[in-house]
Amino acid sequence: MSGTAQKQHGPRHVAIIMDGNGRWATQRGRPRLFGHHAGAKRVREIVEACPEFGVKYLTIFAFSTENWKRTQVEVAGLMSLFRRYITKEAQALNLEGVRVRFIGDRVRLDRKLTALMDELEALTMANTRVNLTIAINYGGRDEVARATKRLAEDVAQGRLSPSDVDEETLPKYLDTHVLPDPDLVIRTSGEARISNFLLWQSAYAEYEFIDTLWPDFSAAEFGRLVARYGQRERRFGAVPG
Ligand code: FPP
Repeated sequence: MSGTAQKQHGPRHVAIIMDGNGRWATQRGRPRLFGHHAGAKRVREIVEACPEFGVKYLTIFAFSTENWKRTQVEVAGLMSLFRRYITKEAQALNLEGVRVRFIGDRVRLDRKLTALMDELEALTMANTRVNLTIAINYGGRDEVARATKRLAEDVAQGRLSPSDVDEETLPKYLDTHVLPDPDLVIRTSGEARISNFLLWQSAYAEYEFIDTLWPDFSAAEFGRLVARYGQRERRFGAVPG
């Protein structure tokens, strides 16, 4: 193929940084949590659209390790939203064949929330239609640090030899160890940053930074970004032959 080689397939794994809820609410003269509630409704629409666009894995950034710095009202509101979301959506997600997983450090999350997360993972574990991964108290550097700690423990216990540590070894310790790397990472709301999301995993991902605020993001726009991915060429550092 020539240098204009094009991919014939869409992204199998799409990761989304859902940004802009606060601004969306402020534009309407409403509190920031109103925007987060509107954002949570969008999640359902995008998850449901995945099979139609051939997306098998969807990973969404719901709460970062840095988000604890927000006001206590906003943090508590988001935690309560996650609990309500899981309780309310569990049956629908299961019926739609969605397997839900959570990534991030659970240690700082409250027990009621982590119990609901465990239950939803168990309820949906046999599903295969869509793999939805929700990142809560997630940070890419934190994930790599936690992974390295466990890897070092295995070395200290003699279960792993330092000479066997390579690019294949470390990802086995990441929260995402059962997931393929993301092919496409989307960030809404006009910010062109990756904000510590899936740092290791996105080494070869395509990025889309779009102006739409997350509560306005639609399945139609998602479909256009997925289609555009199919038009781009990915070489993984190789020269097209
Ligand atoms: C970023 O917008 C959004 C968040 C930190 C929270 C994301 C949460 C949701 C979309 C809703 C809940 C999700 C689930 C899975 C139930 P921002 O607050 O930073 O917006 P801003 O940049 O306009 O202030």
